[in-house]
Amino acid sequence: MFYLGVDLGTSSIKLVVMDEKGNIQATAGAEYGLSFPKPGWSEQSPADWVKGMKESFKKLSEKIDLKKVKGISFGGQMHGLVILDEKDNVIRPAILWNDGRTQKECDYLNKTVGREKISSYTANMALTGFTAPKILWVKENEPENFKKICKIMLPKDYLAYVLTGVHCTDYSDASGMLLLDVKNKRWSEEMMKLCDVKESQLAKLYESYEVVGTVKADIAAELGLGSDVKVTAGAGDNAAGAIGTGTVKDGMTIVSLGTSGTVFTASDKFAVDDKNALHMFAHANGKYHLMGCMLSAASSNKWWMDEIIGTKDYAGEQKAITTLGENHVYYLPYLMGERTPHNNPNARGSFVGMTMDTTRADMTQAVLEGVTFALRDSLEIARSLGVKIDTIRATGGGAKSPLWRKLLANIMNVNVEIMNSEEGPGYGAAILAAVGCGEYASVEEATEKIVKVSEKLSPDADLVKKYEVKYNVWRKIYPALKDAFDDIATK
Ligand code: XUL
Repeated sequence: MFYLGVDLGTSSIKLVVMDEKGNIQATAGAEYGLSFPKPGWSEQSPADWVKGMKESFKKLSEKIDLKKVKGISFGGQMHGLVILDEKDNVIRPAILWNDGRTQKECDYLNKTVGREKISSYTANMALTGFTAPKILWVKENEPENFKKICKIMLPKDYLAYVLTGVHCTDYSDASGMLLLDVKNKRWSEEMMKLCDVKESQLAKLYESYEVVGTVKADIAAELGLGSDVKVTAGAGDNAAGAIGTGTVKDGMTIVSLGTSGTVFTASDKFAVDDKNALHMFAHANGKYHLMGCMLSAASSNKWWMDEIIGTKDYAGEQKAITTLGENHVYYLPYLMGERTPHNNPNARGSFVGMTMDTTRADMTQAVLEGVTFALRDSLEIARSLGVKIDTIRATGGGAKSPLWRKLLANIMNVNVEIMNSEEGPGYGAAILAAVGCGEYASVEEATEKIVKVSEKLSPDADLVKKYEVKYNVWRKIYPALKDAFDDIATK
């Protein structure tokens, strides 16, 4: 029997097929574009996700017998606003997690209504990437579209709808909408009222490992699937990635170097910090997690490599980096503004500290270091809240780089564990499908049996010392540039 996980990412979709013991049988994927209609805006067409998913199924059918697939689930880019009309047609392009257009709406929620109130309703404060402020933005700026809304969906849930015809979501992903009462796992009456939304417009809520429906016969035939393929709700990509790396026990931490960068700590308890410095979301195992999220992590490196220096040879560029802890070039990774810790859509990417002898390798190194410093910001918040973090599990495209793993270990002063599967959210989604189909009694049982540490890396005391100094220099740059960033964004 096979279980299939769909990882709906920001730059690509990836399908991962595993057998009941967790051995990967095949993967396939497709890329799609992002559109940035204005600085700081970020949109994608849900039709591109569907096209990518269908293409990936086709590629898989050339590798394995898809009739053996018993269950499907999802890990998806979070917070995106997908709105459907009365015929379930998509009304406008999806507004994504890294879109920064809703500062006015966030100010209304955090300042006029009040952050404490919003936090008491949802366990979180309003942040520009979250879904509820986007609904308010559509209401204010596109009233014709707002009137047409019959269903409000998250990105992966739209794909589940295409497969099953069911409007569903799961608690982990719904947590990032700012419409969910995370503690009590129900839609918040107060938030629905504030956003002028009815419960009938929202999807039905499930645990990530619960079955929501079966693949419709016509779609199954089109994709080459058998009959009675069960679809399990799935999770936001970070929670799904946590399952794929076995990050389920209280206090375990995963750091993800994907398009976004996240520091995610599993938690048995519901607990909100008084500044809402970290997100408090439901986890895919039925419990909770704390998370800090930066908006341009591996995407900073991709931008630097692809767009600026014009190469696809990432490993070759990294080979030229020979000395660690001595770079005097610094990089702020705020290409899409920043969420944790600055909550500032006006923040901008910057290089600081170049001299006449600065090389291309110094700049590349500064990008990798700058992203890792920014992730350490989230890690330090978690530490300041009493979470003890001496070991992390690393995942995401960036974590495939041995150099970047080394930077994580030494900039964060942690042991870094690499897992047997590098498929993160797609693998986690396949595990959720297996649990949903009864292959395992619980998410914990599945991860214990399936997920293994394959490599460990320890920090080096000398490098830790050097990077401590560098991190403290780097931290001074954002406050020094903050006013200029506001001017740059608005004048
Ligand atoms: C998490 C977040 C990102 C996206 C990326 O809050 O916004 O990690 O889920 O896909």
